[in-house]
Amino acid sequence: MTVDTTTSTQALLERLGIRAENPGAFAGTWIDTKGDRFESVNPATGEPIAAVNMATEEDYERVAATVQKAFEAWRLWPAPKRGEVVRQLGQELRRHKDDLGALVTLEAGKVKSEGLGEVQEMIDICDFAVGLSRQLYGKTMHSERPSHRMYEQWHPLGPVGIVTAFNFPVAVWSWNSAIAAVCGDSMIWKPSSETPLTALAVTRIAQRVLEANDAPPIFGLILADRRVGKVMTADRRLPLISATGSVTMGRAIGNVVSDRLGRSLLELGGNNGIIVTENADQDLALRAVLFAAFGTAGQRCTTARRLFLHKSIAAGFKEKLVRAAKSIPVGDPAEDGVLMGPLINRRAVDDMMNALETVKEQGGEILCGGKTIDRPGFYVEPTVVTATAGMPITCEETFAPILYVFEFDDLDQAIEMHNAVPQGLSSSIFTLNMREAERFLAATGSDCGIANVNIATSGAEIGGAFGGEKETGGGREAGSDSWKLYMRRQTCTINWGTEMPLAQGVEFDVG
Ligand code: UN1
Repeated sequence: MTVDTTTSTQALLERLGIRAENPGAFAGTWIDTKGDRFESVNPATGEPIAAVNMATEEDYERVAATVQKAFEAWRLWPAPKRGEVVRQLGQELRRHKDDLGALVTLEAGKVKSEGLGEVQEMIDICDFAVGLSRQLYGKTMHSERPSHRMYEQWHPLGPVGIVTAFNFPVAVWSWNSAIAAVCGDSMIWKPSSETPLTALAVTRIAQRVLEANDAPPIFGLILADRRVGKVMTADRRLPLISATGSVTMGRAIGNVVSDRLGRSLLELGGNNGIIVTENADQDLALRAVLFAAFGTAGQRCTTARRLFLHKSIAAGFKEKLVRAAKSIPVGDPAEDGVLMGPLINRRAVDDMMNALETVKEQGGEILCGGKTIDRPGFYVEPTVVTATAGMPITCEETFAPILYVFEFDDLDQAIEMHNAVPQGLSSSIFTLNMREAERFLAATGSDCGIANVNIATSGAEIGGAFGGEKETGGGREAGSDSWKLYMRRQTCTINWGTEMPLAQGVEFDVG
């Protein structure tokens, strides 16, 4: 049976409100943007899916002004009422999970289960945020003065700028926006220009939820190039810019935001390592390494790019790894059974091939893969490379399915090698030895924001704070107490007595 993909793709786009030509900005209503026309391309075929007219600086101004006004109204809604709106957003995402997952597959090239998993991550964070809307707790303190009470409270912060990358085209928006919404903030989302259609589809869903609740237009969208992005990050009306992407992008944004003394939440590159000791359950480790290195075609910021094997198990493990890597079904991500889809675009393929040239120059050996796949779209092979400590290319994040394999003699050395890169997002150890696991988790162990035992580096749950150290940028998104970054903390001291004592015993009695 042949499937008419054109027709089914057309039907999918229609169900999600995507037309052949689309506006590039939303602020309560869709704005007839007049910027450059941009075609979103299916990375599995190289063919355009639909076009967007990008937003100009004037369009941005309209979105920013609307969202600013929306904030002024939204912050007055009781937090649990804001939570109710986010609950409905989660429900709508559930209803559209299959379609939205399929659109992520179509536009970002993720295999089916990962496209759906991404939407599930959105649903999960909405659930989390609903509960959070009744738990925006402040502390009370004991004042050092009699008849005084001290406490801290959390107020809405303002409109938030959200910059997201192509590899999690919708989930990362939801980590930010579900939390920001219950915190009483409005937001402007600037998604990657590689994935405008998923952003349009999600914004249409969010629009319906807002309208059904007569809520102010808190979810702004701007599909625009870097120039407009710069205007957004420099905008003093946005007290927080939350940005996910490369270190280069994060540094540029961080500089602009810090120059105006704004707050930034940066979630940048990873160069994540997995240590497998001689005490590991090797079957478990192998399964985890395969997903972490080659899932999402190596395009997660949590992708495992470096594998450290104890000398005594290295030869056998490498053999199994190479055999398994060669057997990964690479192909059309919309097809059942395929585990690795394409890279996002031609440039990503070129970057991978250039990195592999550098690998060879620096003395690395390609054990398997290393080539592009001759078919339409942007396909490459899962690649395993033997590397040695200090090879400069292994200190860089190449957003592709390349796994560098190192050997070590003892755990101290493995941890030292593991930490010797500029990035610090995610890390794992595989061992059944409790001392080794604890050594890895100790203050002198992994220097990353995420440290796992017998779990891969990627695929984190939303309940924890997500982010990393060093050049990863230090930001934390999603669960735990990340919400505090989206709010304004206020310390309040109340004197309910008849005296006016000063703190620290200072006296200042006039007359
Ligand atoms: C990212 O790649 O920017 O932990 C986010 C993971 C996902 C999120 C990745 N939950 O792999």
